Amino acid sequence: MADLLAGKVAAITGAAQGLGAEFAIALAKAGASVVVGDIVSTDETCAAVRALGGQAKGVMLDVTRSESVEAFVDEAVKTFGGLDILVNNAAISGQIRLGSLTDVSSDEWDRVMTVNARGTFECIKAAVRPMKDRGYGKIINIASGTAIKGSPGIPHYVASKGAIISLTRAAARELGGCGIRVNALAPGLTMSEGMKSNPSWSGEIVASNIASRAIKREAVPADLVDTLVFLASPGSDFVTGQTLSVDGGSVMN
Ligand SMILES: NC(=O)c1ccc[n+]([C@@H]2O[C@H](COP(=O)([O-])OP(=O)(O)OC[C@H]3O[C@@H](n4cnc5c(N)ncnc54)[C@H](O)[C@@H]3O)[C@@H](O)[C@H]2O)c1
Repeated sequence: MADLLAGKVAAITGAAQGLGAEFAIALAKAGASVVVGDIVSTDETCAAVRALGGQAKGVMLDVTRSESVEAFVDEAVKTFGGLDILVNNAAISGQIRLGSLTDVSSDEWDRVMTVNARGTFECIKAAVRPMKDRGYGKIINIASGTAIKGSPGIPHYVASKGAIISLTRAAARELGGCGIRVNALAPGLTMSEGMKSNPSWSGEIVASNIASRAIKREAVPADLVDTLVFLASPGSDFVTGQTLSVDGGSVMN
C-alpha cells in the first residue's frame, strides 16, 4: 500500500480538517507527496502527514478565485515537480444551513454553487496544464449521494453536487485523450468533523440515512479512504467518467 502512489504528487482542496484531511493522509500513506489547500490553515494536516514520514505542503486556497487556484497548482509543481492527482473536496457542506427550497435565498444559492460547483471547475481547469505535461492525471471530484437521491432540505447543495457529477462526465470525455481520468466519489452522510459539529446533522436525519442503507450503520471517514486511493491509483486507469457511491448501499446504480 505504501508504494502504490510512490513518486506521485497529489493536491487536495478543503483539506484543513474533515474528509479532506483524511484523504490527504490516506494519499500520503500510499506514498504520494501532498499539497493541501484550504481557506483556513492546513498546518494540522501537514503535521499529521509529516508525522507519518510523508511530504506535505500547505497552501492558503480559495477555490472560488482563479488566481488562488493557479497559485495552488503552481505550488505543487514548484515544490514537488508536477501534479498527478487532484482531489476536489472543498465545499460548503458541514456548515450548510438546512432549509426548504422556498427558504434558500438567491445569495445562499449562489454561494454554495460558487464554492462547490465553480470551485471544482476552476481546480480542474488549472490542473489540466501540469497533467497534460505528464500525459497522465487522476482527478477525483467529491460529489454526494444527495445529488442522486434528490435529498430534501438542501436544494442548493444537491444541485451543486449534481453539477459535479455532470462535470465529471464532460471532463472525462474531453480529457481522456490527454491521459487524464476524471471520476467522482459520492459519499453518503458521513460523520466527519464538520458534520459532527453541526447539530442539524443528528437524530432523525442520521437515523433515516442509516435506515436507507443495505449496511445499516453510521458511516465514518475511514469508510471512504480506500476507494479514494483506488481512484487515485493505476489500478483504476481504465475507469473514467464514473460516480462511485460509498454509502453502505443507500444509492444503487
Ligand atoms: N460528510 C458528509 O456527510 C458528506 C457526504 C457527502 C459528500 N460530502 C462531501 O465531502 C467533502 C468533505 O466533507 P466534510 O464533511 O469534510 O465537509 P466540511 O464542511 O467539514 O469541510 C469542507 C472544507 O472545505 C473548506 N472550504 C470551504 N470553502 C472553501 C473555499 N472557498 N476554498 C477552499 N476550501 C474551502 C472548508 O474550510 C473545510 O475545511 C465535501 O465536498 C462534501 O460536500 C460529505
